[in-house]
Amino acid sequence: MKRVCLSACLVVTIVLFQYCSKKDSGTTTGTGTTTPAQPTLPGTTLNYVMTYPAHIQAALLANDNTPADNAITNDGATLGRVLFYDKQLSKNNTVSCGSCHQQKLAFDDSSSLSKGFEGGSTDRNSMSILNVRFYKSGKMFWDERAASVEKQALQPIQNHTEMGLTLAELETKVKALSYYPALFQKAFGSTTIDSVLIAKAIAQFERSIVTYQSKYDRVKQGLETFTPLEAQGEQIYLTVGAPNTCNTCHTAPMFLNSQTPPFAFPATDIGINGQNRFKAGSLRNVATRTSLFHKGTVANVLAMFTAGAPGTGTAPIPAHSVAPQDVQPLMAFLNTLTDNTIITEEKFSNPFK
Ligand code: HEC
Ligand code: HEC
Repeated sequence: MKRVCLSACLVVTIVLFQYCSKKDSGTTTGTGTTTPAQPTLPGTTLNYVMTYPAHIQAALLANDNTPADNAITNDGATLGRVLFYDKQLSKNNTVSCGSCHQQKLAFDDSSSLSKGFEGGSTDRNSMSILNVRFYKSGKMFWDERAASVEKQALQPIQNHTEMGLTLAELETKVKALSYYPALFQKAFGSTTIDSVLIAKAIAQFERSIVTYQSKYDRVKQGLETFTPLEAQGEQIYLTVGAPNTCNTCHTAPMFLNSQTPPFAFPATDIGINGQNRFKAGSLRNVATRTSLFHKGTVANVLAMFTAGAPGTGTAPIPAHSVAPQDVQPLMAFLNTLTDNTIITEEKFSNPFK
């Protein structure tokens, strides 16, 4: 009995000591070394396991790329959230996934090419990661080189420009951070920390980033109506350029088509299978995004409609410009796709500040 108490007291003392020595983390100590910041999580776990409105559930049923062994759980996505925003996952602790996929920018960034941990530029434009769960094949990146959301998650970490770690370094760093064992325990039932579980947790968090609270969604649920201009824009979206309409390639309701585009763009980059083909991500919130297309060369949607984008304009390779009278209604329609909740919601935000 006494022995139990003694060792319990010892544990408490050690924990207290560790806590005290780390509590002013994120600041520079007298010796000039920076101790890591701690995440702040709410007392009650936030809810990531959702039932969406019927039009979204139907799309999920048709296109969900969640593997059988990695369904979203609230604790799994919570761990994923911490990992996603943790700068310790980069070589010099300066960059996290959230640096190039910023919540306030629809999980994209605002530059054509992004800056990695040493200031070097990425080869391509950062993608918005909204609704990645709805890309049926699960293939990620502009050229679809990652076979799944899980496989994708470890690539930026190992990329020499982006985050610059080996998987062994990643595991060592994550194991050394005091807040992770408890988070892994809750998420996966064990304090084991390895790159497979890191990838799974990040993927759970990413798959939970689903837009369903825009005006478009309220209209589809019969809760609101489009203005005449928005309704006209929707009609144009569904018909212009037929048989290859906007909706053929960017299909409602997630404005994402799970089929690999079967056609090649003019050569600026090798693309999918070296065939100059590129994936397009979800067009949700696209009216607020800047630096579009795989090289980030198109300033925004308005510039795309008026000046065009990489493409020949020869069907089915769209130059993405439209007739002048279609611009205003199309813009009005695309504005209804903006979900303002997702860009501020606590459960998707950076827990390190
Ligand atoms: C330095 C900037 C940068 C960092 C850091 C970064 N990314 Fe990215 N991300 C990009 C770029 C650039 C692309 C497109 C690259 C390509 O297609 O070749 C991309 C693409 C993606 C995609 C593909 C989306 C799709 O629809 O195919 C996902 C998912 C993603 N990143 C998640 C992450 C995760 C998870 C992390 C952290 C582990 C991360 N990113 C870190 C810049 C970054
Ligand atoms: C035949 C298929 C096709 C059609 C039709 C099409 N697109 Fe695209 N779209 C693509 C592909 C593929 C890309 C990615 C190309 C790239 O990055 O080089 C793209 C990119 C985009 C982007 C940039 C996305 C981003 O994340 O950077 C926007 C916005 C867009 N399309 C809107 C539209 C609109 C609006 C229409 C109708 C006027 C339309 N598209 C018609 C295939 C199509």
